[in-house]
Amino acid sequence: MSGWELQPLRRADLPAAASLCAREIEHLPFSPAILADRILDDPDFDPALNPTAWRGGRLIGLACGAPPNERLQTAGGVKLFAVARQERRRGVATQLFDEIEDRLAARGAGESIAVIAGNNRFMQGLDLRYTEALCFLEARGYTRAGDGMDMDVDLRAQPLDTAAQEAALERGHGVRLRRMTPADHDRVWAYVEREFEFPSPLAPTPIGRRWAYLATAGLKLDPPTLHTAERGGALGGFAVTDVAAPGRLGPMGVSPDLRGLGVGTALLKRALADLRARGLAVGVIYGAGPYAFYARTVAARTSAVFWRLRKPLT
Ligand SMILES: CC(C)(COP(=O)(O)OP(=O)(O)OC[C@H]1O[C@@H](n2cnc3c(N)ncnc32)[C@H](O)[C@@H]1OP(=O)(O)O)[C@@H](O)C(=O)NCCC(=O)NCCS
Repeated sequence: MSGWELQPLRRADLPAAASLCAREIEHLPFSPAILADRILDDPDFDPALNPTAWRGGRLIGLACGAPPNERLQTAGGVKLFAVARQERRRGVATQLFDEIEDRLAARGAGESIAVIAGNNRFMQGLDLRYTEALCFLEARGYTRAGDGMDMDVDLRAQPLDTAAQEAALERGHGVRLRRMTPADHDRVWAYVEREFEFPSPLAPTPIGRRWAYLATAGLKLDPPTLHTAERGGALGGFAVTDVAAPGRLGPMGVSPDLRGLGVGTALLKRALADLRARGLAVGVIYGAGPYAFYARTVAARTSAVFWRLRKPLT
């Protein structure tokens, strides 16, 4: 007899969930608003895939699952999980994962991915500093299926003003940078989906619709966090913050015909300046693909390494 009860996550549980996550998951920011955005406002949110564990009216554990979505190019699996310290090694996480994996399998999902699952995510893989979580996932049959890294930028030390560089780009190449507005939604979606829907140097697999979802998510924020480059009326690059994960930069990309002109550097600095304007001292580049580019342009430093973990479901 376990002595705890499971129930689906409800909006009213978010304050308790945020304090549990803040206590148990040390390297990420948590608040009820962040959890609402990442979990409940994920277009594929399903309460049945988000079980919480309670003992005597106290929240002792949670796991947040998400179904696969082919249209938005997202994997199904578990994107966040935590168990209160004093309740560990009693099988709480095992039961929460059993719930999610059984439901995913019953719906025909062939695999469960940790933790780069769903549309609104927290990490782009399991940060290896979460040692217990890594041990737990391996014991459950998850194996390494890829990796990634985050990089930190010292926003106070880096010069992020782009006025002179933007003037030179406009004068020399007819390229203009600007912050987009909600009215640009359809145009941005079409551009990003088309331009990045094939394997590019930025990613090993097509990510056009996933990136279109993220780029346009930046238009819903106030002010919008999406910056683009344009030449002759055609979009040619973008950078966005606070959509792939809270307080993070990315994705960003520049079309092949505009590469090598400094457009990527200018977009990167504009987007980082947004983070600085919000009072952040450190800007995190989420899932830094071309790490040498970030190291050279804004002295970015590797700050976390992730494993993407996968378990086949039967
Ligand atoms: C990972 C975590 C959720 C596990 O919760 P839990 O309820 O203690 O897990 P369970 O009791 O179901 O563990 C099942 C099995 O996983 C493995 N396991 C779990 N914790 C482990 C640890 N600290 N070391 C080694 N193996 C571990 C064991 O095989 C365990 O079986 P056993 O206890 O019979 O040996 C918990 O340690 C935690 O909340 N960590 C912090 C949150 C976190 O890092 N989340 C990742 C970011 S999303």
